[in-house]
Formats: sequence, structure tokens, C-alpha cells
Amino acid sequence: MASRTRPAVDPVALSEDAVSDRILVLKALLGPDALILAHHYQRDAVVAVADVVGDSLRLARAAAAATARHIVFCGVRFMAETAAILTAPDQAVYLAEASAGCSMADMASVDALEAAWADLAAARAGTILPVAYVNSTAALKAFVGRHGGLACTSANAVKALSWVLSQGAKAFFFPDEHLGRIAALELGLPASALAVWDRDKAHGGLDARAMDAAQVYLWNGYCVVHQMFEPGDAATWREKEPGIRVIVHPECSLDVLREADAYGSTETLARMVDTAPAGSKWAVGTEINLVARLAGRNPDKLVVSLSPHQALCANMYRTRPRSVLRVLEAVAAGAPPPAVRVDPALAGQARLALDRMLACA
Ligand code: 13P
Ligand code: SF4
Repeated sequence: MASRTRPAVDPVALSEDAVSDRILVLKALLGPDALILAHHYQRDAVVAVADVVGDSLRLARAAAAATARHIVFCGVRFMAETAAILTAPDQAVYLAEASAGCSMADMASVDALEAAWADLAAARAGTILPVAYVNSTAALKAFVGRHGGLACTSANAVKALSWVLSQGAKAFFFPDEHLGRIAALELGLPASALAVWDRDKAHGGLDARAMDAAQVYLWNGYCVVHQMFEPGDAATWREKEPGIRVIVHPECSLDVLREADAYGSTETLARMVDTAPAGSKWAVGTEINLVARLAGRNPDKLVVSLSPHQALCANMYRTRPRSVLRVLEAVAAGAPPPAVRVDPALAGQARLALDRMLACA
């Protein structure tokens, strides 16, 4: 491989434009050997060099279908882990910024889930299947796989929950309380059938009667970014811009979701705006990089953030074109950086959860 390229260039020494140009040179050189996947929340300059841009579901599908030996993932760790689990052993997935995590994924550890599971068994709460939002660690997905449950994304949480309930089982949904709640309500369950599992309290803060009565348990994790959208934001925009449509991501709280005209995954939100007629107006409740990009590429529409606050995902923002270039330089020089590694025993179990998701999505 080393003979295929000139000596590696130090990205730090290059201007932003030169970094992007060099990425394109290396992509041409590596051809089908390299694939760059990027989430919608990435910076514009990263999105510009990506081969596939999407929500978690689209990126998981792209990884599962990929034939490239080297996959550079521009997003956060749980997404790159998912890609690593769905690819073959001779493929490598590199997280462009290795430190990019997700605070929601950190809110549910496998030990805490094991303890909750034991509590429910002791309370004889019935047959329960776990549902892991993909914003979770590989260890948690493995927990789900070995307990017969499945993973889901914001695009297919309703289908995943429906799959569990159709088997006559209760569901334990984690880590995102808000996505789990809206999916359950969407399926027609009454609020009284939902029990919040408080991760800071013994036995989730539930007594045996409450454990028995619930049909869906909701782990009380959340996304810090999507909690910036508040009830009242929609009314403010509707007063300022009559006719504006309010659309939000399902990680927002129920009160915000109820005030919106529609909700959906990042891909769904982007499609709604991109395919809307000229002159339409949109207040979008999701991460600011995506909202700003939608505004930029739809100059014939009004596209604004639903929130007056800067709803930025600092973890997504860590990745810069330089991060991508560093990986590509190393790959082209024949000395790739460490790939995302998931313990093979866990990966096999996690794959069961992801395959069930892809089959029912
Ligand atoms: P999507 O799958 O809708 O892109 O959401 C991922 C995410 O982390 C949102 O905060
Ligand atoms: Fe995680 Fe929230 Fe960032 Fe999505 S926006 S990656 S849920 S911290």
C-alpha cells in the first residue's frame, strides 16, 4: 500500500481547503477500498467529503452492505460500533475522532441493566423483552441479543416495540425514555401502562405492584441536546411566523413532541424540508448543524432552529476534515490507525439484536 501514495501529509500543516482537497486525492487513490460514512449532525465540511450521509438506520444499512475494506465513520462511538458489528472480519471501521461518545449511551450500563432485570424477575413481572435504542454501548446490545430482544433507531422504534408486544411480551426500552414513550403512545398504549425506571433509585423506584402493572418500562436516559427544546418554543415561532411547520426529533420530551406538527428521525426531518414547496416555513427541533445545512440548501424556504439556544452536539462536532484525513493518510500509507473493536463474544450477541432490527425495520 505504501507505494501507492506519496509520503503522508501532516494535516495540521494544511489549510481547511487543502485538507478537503487532499481527502479527495486519497479517496481517488484508495477507490473502492475506502468508504466514508457521516451522520447528519456532522459539520458541512465533513459531510462534503462523505460517500454516505444519513441517520443511524441508513448508516447501519450502509455498513451492512459495504464491501470496502476500510470504513471511516464520522459520527459517535455507538454508531461506529454498530458498523463494526455489522461488517465482516476482514473489514475495519475507524471512528474518525476516537473520543466522540454519546452522553445518552453512557446513561445505561450493562451492570445496571442486569440488576434491573434481576429485580423484575424477583417481582415476577412476566415475560419481558428488551429493546435497545442504538444510542447504547455494544455490551448493552449484546444484553438485548442474549435476552431475545432487538435494537431500534429513531426511525423504527414503533416497529420494534410493536414486534415485542405482538409476542405477548412486555418491553423494557432503554436508554431513551422519550423515544420509548412516544413509540408506546403511538401504538395506542395508555400512559398508565408505562413505568419510568429511575436509574438512580433502588429497583428503579418501582414497587412490585407497579412492576407488575406496567407493559413498557422506560429507562430514564435522555439526550442533553434535545432537552434544550422546550414547551412554548413552538408557540413562539407560530406567533412570529404564521404558517410555520414545527418538526422535531423524537428524543425531545413529550410536551415538545405534542406541540409539534410532526416528528421523525434526522433523515425524515431532512426529507420533509428538502421536499417541501418553495416559500414554506420550518422550525426544526434537532441538532444545529443539520438545521443550518437544511437552511443553506433550501434558500427558497425559511428554515430555523426551534430553539433560541445553540443545540449543538459537542461530540459530533469533534470530527473535522482533519480527523478524516489523518485516518485516510494512515490507511494509504499502509499503517491504519486502531480499528473500532468489539469483543467477538459480545459482537455475536449484539448482532442478533441488530439483525432483528434490520429484519423488522
Ligand atoms: P437519528 O438516527 O435520527 O439520526 O438520531 C441519532 C441521534 O443521535 C439523534 O440525537
Ligand atoms: Fe447522543 Fe444526543 Fe449527540 Fe445524538 S445528539 S449523539 S443522542 S448526545
